[in-house]
Amino acid sequence: MTLPRREFAPAKLNLTLHVTGQRADGYHLLDSLVVFLDVGDVVTLQDGPLSLSLTGPFAAGLADDPDNLCLRAARLAGAQAAITLEKNLPVASGIGGGSADAAAVLRAIGCQPDRPEILGADVPVCLASRPSRMQSTGEIVVPLPQLPPLHLVLVNPLKAVSTPAVFRALTNRNNPPMPDSLPDFADAAQLTDFLRACRNDLQAPAIALMPEIADCLAALDDAGADLSRMSGSGATCFGLFASAELARQARERIAQAHPGWWVTASGLAPAPATP
Ligand code: C5P
Repeated sequence: MTLPRREFAPAKLNLTLHVTGQRADGYHLLDSLVVFLDVGDVVTLQDGPLSLSLTGPFAAGLADDPDNLCLRAARLAGAQAAITLEKNLPVASGIGGGSADAAAVLRAIGCQPDRPEILGADVPVCLASRPSRMQSTGEIVVPLPQLPPLHLVLVNPLKAVSTPAVFRALTNRNNPPMPDSLPDFADAAQLTDFLRACRNDLQAPAIALMPEIADCLAALDDAGADLSRMSGSGATCFGLFASAELARQARERIAQAHPGWWVTASGLAPAPATP
């Protein structure tokens, strides 16, 4: 690896998240349409013994974690580097932060581990960082063609919800998967229609644990979203808007009404050059 190296860690968004079963070891079987956004963290690797420095608006949320996923990823790769993590995404927020950071470290090192899922269920899809269908417990990643442009607003109440607690609160673990064969998503309207027929099965249990998630969804709906849904195990919710201007206006309106929330307008990340 040639250092220094700077790698973008795009936010991961679950446009759908169907929970279709549970393995004997307790892990859940998923079927999820995952995209990556133009907002995210940034990792920089420089020469030096293995270390981690934190910067950015959400650095404080990680200060107490001696075993950050960036360090675990570098150890898995057997690499030495002084890592700086610019933490722009809220911590433990359902948009992949830690997994995206770990995947960015692995990409920067040029390491493709056999079982990246041991770092976290979302790490395999974050390594791809392209629109994908994610199945099983996260280790099956089927890349999709680039999707039409999306105009999104992300809203997070800045309260962390525990992923294991949300999975435990699920009442039905055997929900139908997405259709075997996905449409080609020629335009955003077709994609939105498809998404309306799909779900995030973790949304209801997450709301039961943290009612503010319902407030975030209502705020997106009130601001004119064509569709609103939670990502991952929460608490970040997204709204889809018909244009970048409508998304910008919605972002402003929600941010003004809820100064304590994280509110960001976003689009899809450009597809990476290499598969
Ligand atoms: O792999 P990750 O660290 O993201 O998972 C956090 C927790 O979420 C797991 O310990 C497990 O309780 C739950 N989980 C699950 N099924 C999955 C992914 C995560 O039950 N497919």
